[in-house]
Amino acid sequence: MGKDNLTTEEILARCRAEDGGGAAAPAEGAPAPEAPAAGQSAADQPAAEAPAAAPAKKSGPAPTSTADILAALRAEVKGGGAALAAEARESPKPAAAKKPGAKPASTAGILAAARGEVSGGGGAAAAPVAAKPSAKPAVKKVPDGEKRSAQEMIAALRKPAGAEDKASPVVKSSGPAKPKFPKKPVAAGKPKAAKADDIPRRGFLLGLVATPLALAWTIMTATAGVSLLAVARFMFPNVLVEPPMRFKIGPPSDYPPGTVSTKFKAARGIWVVHTDQYKGRDLIYALASVCTHLGCTPSWLEGEQKFKCPCHGSGFYITGVNFEGPAPRPLERVGLAVAPDGMLEVDKSVKFQEEMGQWEDATSYVDASTV
Ligand code: FES
Repeated sequence: MGKDNLTTEEILARCRAEDGGGAAAPAEGAPAPEAPAAGQSAADQPAAEAPAAAPAKKSGPAPTSTADILAALRAEVKGGGAALAAEARESPKPAAAKKPGAKPASTAGILAAARGEVSGGGGAAAAPVAAKPSAKPAVKKVPDGEKRSAQEMIAALRKPAGAEDKASPVVKSSGPAKPKFPKKPVAAGKPKAAKADDIPRRGFLLGLVATPLALAWTIMTATAGVSLLAVARFMFPNVLVEPPMRFKIGPPSDYPPGTVSTKFKAARGIWVVHTDQYKGRDLIYALASVCTHLGCTPSWLEGEQKFKCPCHGSGFYITGVNFEGPAPRPLERVGLAVAPDGMLEVDKSVKFQEEMGQWEDATSYVDASTV
């Protein structure tokens, strides 16, 4: 059975060997070739005799090429190998069913017949087995020490040249190897990259300001915020907070005779005058610091003992009576009284005009001789 799995090359090699010396010497143990008797069919002949008779027909130079060998084999099979070829095709029918002159149709049949011959005349029973084409591909035998699997060979190819000697019993097959790309060269004068902490903050600021879309959104958001604040302010009343109209200015002793106090001019808009020049009466009164021409604020000139308006030059005496400039009338007095606590109390809600005779009102002055 060991000879049944012969390759085509081995069969052809044996055929060549037989062609070279088989003509003079028949196969080992084979009987002398005899021509089939006339009238005796090939089916009557045993299948093992057919290949034994083939070498006897050889004559002349030995074939050297495959074509010559195949031609010689066809000639042999035509004569007496029909039964052998039929058995080689694994036909359930007996070889006698074939015609004596049947010619193998294909190369496979010829090779099957040749295998039958090479098997050394093993009998008709062995011929079909020998002619059966081997399903296994011809594998070159490799010593056991050198036999490697396909994965091992692939792993060996993937290994670098220097790591070829390091035999690893475990081969990792985790998919195709990823190609390694060379690192990007860094220029010599290239500045260092920014710190990782600065990138998000800087990127946020740039994204907030530099990007046109972000800038537009920022402006629109700011405008909407200002508009909302303006609407909220509009909902509240526009109240002017003013100091109270009634306030105390201290005791009468704080205002000596013949003086003009200007300490309430800026905050309260009044002068406090203590004089006896108006009709010879020692009075304390309060004058409104408003020019009767167009409403400017005059100044007290201590050296000149007069009120002088800087706008158009109107002048007023210490009594408040106008004497120069465009002012048409004297300054106005405001209400003044002594509070229960002895303090002088001013009431700006009340005004007294000299031309109207209102300065005679007792609430427009405080008699200093009585306090
Ligand atoms: Fe005082 Fe004109 S406003 S002089």
